[in-house]
Amino acid sequence: MNIAVIGAQWGDEGKGKIVDYLASETDVVVRFSGGANAGHTVVAENVTYKLHLIPSGIIYPGKQVVLGAGMVIDLEAMFEELSILEQQGVDTSGNVFISDRAHLVLPSYKERDKESDKTRKRPIGTTGRGIGITYARKAGREGIRVADLYDTEFYNGLPKEDKAFLDPFRERISPMVIDITDFLYNRLGERILLEGAQGTLLDIDHGTYPYVSSGCSIAAGASIGSGIGPKHIDRILGVFKAYSTRVGNGPFPSEFNDARDGSLCETVRELGREYGVTTGRPRRCGYLDLVALKYACRVNSFDSLVLTHIDVYDEFEEISACVGYEIDGKRVDRFPASIGSLNKVKPVLKSFPGWKSSLSDCRTYDELPENAKKYIAFIEEFTGTAMEIISVGYERRQTIVRKDQWTKS
Ligand code: GDP
Ligand code: IMO
Ligand code: MG
Repeated sequence: MNIAVIGAQWGDEGKGKIVDYLASETDVVVRFSGGANAGHTVVAENVTYKLHLIPSGIIYPGKQVVLGAGMVIDLEAMFEELSILEQQGVDTSGNVFISDRAHLVLPSYKERDKESDKTRKRPIGTTGRGIGITYARKAGREGIRVADLYDTEFYNGLPKEDKAFLDPFRERISPMVIDITDFLYNRLGERILLEGAQGTLLDIDHGTYPYVSSGCSIAAGASIGSGIGPKHIDRILGVFKAYSTRVGNGPFPSEFNDARDGSLCETVRELGREYGVTTGRPRRCGYLDLVALKYACRVNSFDSLVLTHIDVYDEFEEISACVGYEIDGKRVDRFPASIGSLNKVKPVLKSFPGWKSSLSDCRTYDELPENAKKYIAFIEEFTGTAMEIISVGYERRQTIVRKDQWTKS
């Protein structure tokens, strides 16, 4: 059986924490899209691990992890990450595999990524990790895949500087290289986790284009990037925060604004420690956007939702969520494609009474205060999707599971 874990907002929803939590009962974890633009945090026994390319299951001893076919991999960054993990006491040897169909990021692509963002008409605020350039080369049929490193004729035809960068990695990664479809097809009876990167609204097709990343970060990408056919994806979880965040540029309909919301942005940013894992940039913060979340439920066909960061609201008298959009004086209940329309949105807010107590020690749904349960029930009803995992803190153990995810239903 497999479970795909997908970001339901603009990334940083807590996917790393949830994948790590579920990984205790998993055999293999596969990252299926994106590259070193991702920053997934796992906190276990007071140690913080920051993962960019390596799947979050790696922290548990003996788990196998795979960098999937939909990824764009910077091999230098990957070995740096492995070395930091080793320094933190994680034994990664023999457990890391790379799809032979994944594409490779070259140093010059990172430079071009930074340069082109400076000069483009609508700067995106990329992470500068060469992601857009590598995916563009892939779509233009000019990319370099892992398998190509071992195709002598192709490899010898590469420019000298590309070979100089790639040469040291050819032998070094060769024991890790696999045919991902073959590897996973033979293990479909085992427990496989498919780890998403970025989030639904950063997806190249269904996100807030052009203010998106370049990979396929929705649930369909789990199939594309793992080589498991769509009929064999068993369960899809959508991870979202009790509020919204976004890093970089682009529309954000429910973003806090100081004139209307006072110091709410600062408060949420500090309580939620909302600073980027990859770039350290302060994240933009806003109300939970239920219009966008409903859209994410549809585009991903989530089986269930995973709520994180609800503890950030512990001391609030009252919390609000966006339940509709007003655009040019008209009520709109769906998530529009037009950036112009998204930029004009006035969020329709609904307020909920706070619970004024700490959730961080709650371990069962029944232990949650009534007002927290009401907030959860409203989201479930609005989106038509059950909330089966609730995270009440960044530690592995601060997790409430209402239904075992490995039981097929
Ligand atoms: P990802 O990219 O989706 O894996 O998320 P990030 O790791 O970029 O950002 C999530 C941040 O929130 C990390 O610092 C996590 O340690 C932290 N986090 C995860 N779940 C919770 C939660 O339920 N409550 C709080 N307060 N922090 C959380
Ligand atoms: P995780 O997996 C949040 C954002 C960047 C930028 C845009 C394009 O940690 O949730 P890129 O470098 O990909 O070309 O940048 O996408 N972005 C993310 N924001 N979380 C992420 O990943 C992100 N990956 C990319 O900030 O706005
Ligand atoms: Mg992140």
